[in-house]
Amino acid sequence: MSEPMGWPEDPDAPRPEPAKSLLVEEGLEISVPMEGDALELFNLVDENRAYLREWLPWLDDVNSVDDEVAMIRSLSEPNPDDFRFYLIRQSGEIVGVISMNWVDYHNRSFGLGYWVSQSSAGRGIITKACSRLMDHCFDDLKLHRSVIEAAVENYPSRAIAERLGMRLEGISKDREWLYDHFTDSSLYAITAPEWKSRHQG
Ligand SMILES: CC(C)(COP(=O)(O)OP(=O)(O)OC[C@H]1O[C@@H](n2cnc3c(N)ncnc32)[C@H](O)[C@@H]1OP(=O)(O)O)[C@@H](O)C(=O)NCCC(=O)NCCS
Repeated sequence: MSEPMGWPEDPDAPRPEPAKSLLVEEGLEISVPMEGDALELFNLVDENRAYLREWLPWLDDVNSVDDEVAMIRSLSEPNPDDFRFYLIRQSGEIVGVISMNWVDYHNRSFGLGYWVSQSSAGRGIITKACSRLMDHCFDDLKLHRSVIEAAVENYPSRAIAERLGMRLEGISKDREWLYDHFTDSSLYAITAPEWKSRHQG
């Protein structure tokens, strides 16, 4: 007897659920936050506020530990974009965040977002975390297309997409409102077959 078809061949089959945690390499892991992580996460955001504010739009919405608790609680509620949020921990300490900002299950595509503290930047942490999460999305969740959007002048973020082998598909005019101005974004993408031939041989 043949194996039953799973999602996506059978669209009525249950979809695989994103992992709660993933090992990136020895000492580096990503995991969904618990309410008990709110204080450590808030302190990291607060220490890096000016640095993060240059390119991320939500800093004015995070002003207390309670704001982080509320954000973490909201992650367990279903949300229209299927937003998923992981803490990046190095040797147990939170050093940044990586998220699936949206998942479009009908078209099997997803968009990634990330940040790392200023003191942990320049070590490849985000490139490696993206690579691990993309392996999971393509191999385990059966998604097909990964997207990263970075402001045209956010060269460190664009370098991540380029290091991952993603294709620059275009520039989106006035894509994001950042406090008092719009920024143009570079849209990078890679498909599962392209990823597999590049990264998995
Ligand atoms: C964008 C951002 C995440 C980039 O962080 P980053 O530390 O430069 O990115 P990576 O973790 O991939 O590290 C790359 C650096 O580590 C180095 N590196 C060391 N070991 C590495 C490895 N094994 N693999 C890849 N890079 C490695 C690279 O050479 C590179 O250094 P360079 O900048 O001197 O060329 C960070 O600048 C940030 O958080 N900015 C503020 C928020 C933000 O802009 N978020 C993105 C919005 S779209």
